[in-house]
Amino acid sequence: MKSFLDMLENRVSLRRYKDKDIKPSDLNKIIHSAMRAPTAGNLMHYSILVIKNKEKKKILSESCDNQSFIAQAPVILIFLADLQRMYDYFEVCDLKKYCENNNMRFKNPNLASLFLGAGDAFIAAQNAVIAAESLGIGSCYIGDLIENYELKKDLFNLSQYTMPLVMLTFGYYPDDFKKRKSNRFNKEYIVFKEEYRRLDEKELIDMYKRREERIRPDNKLNAENFGQYIYKKKIDSKFFEEMERSLKLMVIDWLENRE
Ligand SMILES: Cc1cc2nc3c(=O)[nH]c(=O)nc-3n(C[C@H](O)[C@H](O)[C@H](O)COP(=O)(O)O)c2cc1C
Repeated sequence: MKSFLDMLENRVSLRRYKDKDIKPSDLNKIIHSAMRAPTAGNLMHYSILVIKNKEKKKILSESCDNQSFIAQAPVILIFLADLQRMYDYFEVCDLKKYCENNNMRFKNPNLASLFLGAGDAFIAAQNAVIAAESLGIGSCYIGDLIENYELKKDLFNLSQYTMPLVMLTFGYYPDDFKKRKSNRFNKEYIVFKEEYRRLDEKELIDMYKRREERIRPDNKLNAENFGQYIYKKKIDSKFFEEMERSLKLMVIDWLENRE
């Protein structure tokens, strides 16, 4: 039997799936494991949407930078940072009256609560990834979830204090799957003893060397090194611009006081 560390070592982002539904018992285990993740204040400031509907998956695949494999995944989980539930409960608990009677200002969810909810959502998601892996089910994060907020808000009936931050596709590994691990940067450039250290020019060039080797000399981006390549491909891309626009809207929605 594979050890837990072997499993972490060999996990990859899976973007092609066996044509087989995920067993309800497996999906339950994945969701249960997500809910066992650490959570700030043990308050679980997140919600999980389970998406199996074909039409919704198609819309997601198109609205998440046209990644067609998303539509092929048997199950998608979306993790929302969620303060709506707590604030609805506060209403049930007569919090505004309580604040008035006790000389306190009633405070709506703020950036700190968003940060904790976002942390909760990501941590729960990673538990789901590991649980799935242990069941022979691969997964892939989809960062492009945060694009096209207006569409997603409508599609998933989101309310003010629910923010769609993490999306994962799930499916069994296909029988003919050949694992190809992606490389990681050297530990010396990522892990520092006791305090942060900026890397010097030589270290930076060395760190990105292996990525640079993979750029074709005839790349269409006109890039001479990995820095130029990744800047053009990501930072200067349309999808990154859309992420920024959409995320700003989400944050404004969250912070806007609608008492
Ligand atoms: C926050 C986040 C967003 C990601 N978004 C995408 C995505 O939109 N599409 C995709 O194919 N992979 C996405 N990935 C997967 C990464 O590309 C992948 O983790 C990375 O290339 C390392 O490969 P590995 O997971 O196989 O080790 C995302 C990963 C993370 C953590």
